[in-house]
Amino acid sequence: MEKMLTLIRTLPSQIEEALKTELPKIPDNIKRVFFSGMGGSAIAGDIVRSLLLDSGVEVDVIRDYTLPPYVDRDSLLIAISYSGNTEETISVFEEAIKRKIPSVSISSGGKLKEISQDAGVPHIEVKGGLPPRTALGYLFTYSLRLLAPLEGVSTLIEYVRGLPEFLLSLQKELEDEESEARELADRFYLRIPVIYSSSRLFPVAFRWKTQINENAKAFVHVAVFPEMNHNEISGIKNPEEKVEMLWLVFLRDEEDHPRIKLRMKLTADILRDSVMGLTFVDSKGRNPIERIFHLIYLGDYVSYYLSKYYNEDPIAIPRIDILKERLKK
Ligand code: PA5
Repeated sequence: MEKMLTLIRTLPSQIEEALKTELPKIPDNIKRVFFSGMGGSAIAGDIVRSLLLDSGVEVDVIRDYTLPPYVDRDSLLIAISYSGNTEETISVFEEAIKRKIPSVSISSGGKLKEISQDAGVPHIEVKGGLPPRTALGYLFTYSLRLLAPLEGVSTLIEYVRGLPEFLLSLQKELEDEESEARELADRFYLRIPVIYSSSRLFPVAFRWKTQINENAKAFVHVAVFPEMNHNEISGIKNPEEKVEMLWLVFLRDEEDHPRIKLRMKLTADILRDSVMGLTFVDSKGRNPIERIFHLIYLGDYVSYYLSKYYNEDPIAIPRIDILKERLKK
């Protein structure tokens, strides 16, 4: 069995395991939540942010070196780095400790764990030895469960309990010879995928991008509605021979704003003749978490199948490794 496929299949069991682990308690007075992380680790925070958009809790994800000045002691900082050694995440985390911001860290070890132990900051240890992007089940479930005392989170955690079973049944569909995932990979091969979604679903569109980048070593563009209607829709024209290579995907959700639903349809009508083709992909599931993870899992499989088309090893990320090595010097 191909290693990446085996890892993709562990998503449901990771969630199950992470639902059982005992977690540290966060302070009672938390008003805002900030995640610090990069790449495959940051996505967990993006998904939590999207799920809590309608709650009274402000959530933001910091993908940078510095902790903004407005992060105060009523805030919680969750630093996530799967390896525990990502310099941007460590820099934000160290600043949070210096400014006495309530913090928690999540990693499989590395410096993040050491710094947490030295500073007496709660740390959640994730099982090691995985490519960070394949540890999403752990990272997401821990992140959400940490926030259990906050408004609206307990209902979401209830939804997560049903997620492993839902994902297991999806696995069968996605691995079918005629699956939507294989068909999309086929469409994307030798073309440029362009992924659109509402801003609420942006974490999903962005996950498609990062998975296609890292697993298939392929270029992909991502943009959001309604903003793209105010600029990009004009740009999908020149140079014509390149634009003809685009394959557009519109990720749709039943809770998208009605005007976004209309905008997607009208945009597709306008752009259809300029591009190679387009596909509408509708989320499915009994609740927002299942719908988000349906699309995420679909994208994960698409990126895996596309890696096979390009004959790329979906696990290896040599350019990222080289860059990290050079940065150390
Ligand atoms: O998927 C990957 O390997 C990357 O996107 C990493 O997640 C990213 O470089 C950050 O590393 P880490 O997740 O270990 O903090």
